[in-house]
Amino acid sequence: MTIFVTGGAGFIGSNFIFYMLKKYQSYKIVCIDKLTYAGNLSTLEPVMNYSNFRFVKLDICDRKGVYELFEEEQPDIVVNFAAESHVDRSIKNPEIFLQTNIIGTAILMDACRKYGNIRYHQVSTDEVYGDLPLDRTDLFFTENTPIHTSSPYSSSKASADLLVLAYYKTYGLPVTISRCSNNYGPYHFPEKLIPLMIVNALNNKLLPVYGEGINVRDWLYVEDHCKAIDLIIHSGIIGEVYNIGGHNEMKNIDIVKIICKELGKPESLITFVEDRRGHDMRYAIDPTKIYTELGWLPETTFAEGIRKTIQWYLDNQEWWEDIISGEYQNYYKKMYGNLEEV
Ligand code: NAD
Ligand code: TYD
Repeated sequence: MTIFVTGGAGFIGSNFIFYMLKKYQSYKIVCIDKLTYAGNLSTLEPVMNYSNFRFVKLDICDRKGVYELFEEEQPDIVVNFAAESHVDRSIKNPEIFLQTNIIGTAILMDACRKYGNIRYHQVSTDEVYGDLPLDRTDLFFTENTPIHTSSPYSSSKASADLLVLAYYKTYGLPVTISRCSNNYGPYHFPEKLIPLMIVNALNNKLLPVYGEGINVRDWLYVEDHCKAIDLIIHSGIIGEVYNIGGHNEMKNIDIVKIICKELGKPESLITFVEDRRGHDMRYAIDPTKIYTELGWLPETTFAEGIRKTIQWYLDNQEWWEDIISGEYQNYYKKMYGNLEEV
């Protein structure tokens, strides 16, 4: 069995590669990654020399390169994590999101059609459902919730999802889609809420919370997401969408306070900054389908997961210091201005 994992030098893709190589020692995993700002080859260092692992630096929008690799490796399954993934960057510059997230998805599926109707899994997001009101805690996203996006990021992911379902209906491509809630865990790029707050707190820098910090996200430990995808690619029903989430809804401000407490840092580091444009209020997944059909349940509680995550950032300082010392500094300045001087 050969599995193509695109975007495997990023946060969730790399965790998935580690999980799969450990669990299925007879499988070959081929990682395809363009190594954008979010991709980090050093992340894959521990598996680089495995005989059943191969890394290929490639843009999923490079049709010729993608076809050549399919021809050479003849994969059995393709799992597409490759994406531009940060909402704030999509607000500043949408175009690359349309290119990678939509066109890249189409090219991968064209290759799947061309080289033997290969099974294709699209890693999508709960953000395609838009948001829920804060005062209706009885409401959750199901797989039948209408697509209703807010940001260029979520719109590009929703477009890709529609294309995936179209390839199923029109061409009979064997596809599945998973829509997961917010992940956290090791190797999370420090532009996203949890790693940004951990890294800033460790550096005694201000912790920028958008608006009033009352927006709610449904947090899932990344390994639980990987387990769900493993189940779907082996036992999921072709043509189906599966929501993944652990009923762990929390306000942003509460997350930041937990991080301060765990690290022994003062809450006075928290600073409220201008809100994100079009900021979704609440995400909340109903995971009934994946539980009843595939028996998936999250295994890591938030209390356990956040401690493991913080410990990972303490133990792997070099990994994130390399990141924040580079191009990241320009991004940070553009995004947060002269925060430290306020
Ligand atoms: P990430 O930004 O950490 O990693 C993305 C990876 O894709 C990087 O390694 C990058 O180099 C690579 N990439 C980008 N453009 C590429 C291209 N054109 N060709 C090849 N590689 C390219 O993202 P992540 O958080 O690991 O998210 C992975 C997937 O999961 C995305 O599709 C995202 O939409 C989805 N998702 C993420 C979350 C979350 O909380 N992070 C939740 C639900 C779904
Ligand atoms: P993020 O990690 O970017 O994920 P997403 O927008 O895909 O849910 O943000 C999570 C939440 O944290 C979101 O409501 C925005 C908020 N946030 C802040 O308050 N401050 C920050 O510096 C960042 C990056 C996010």
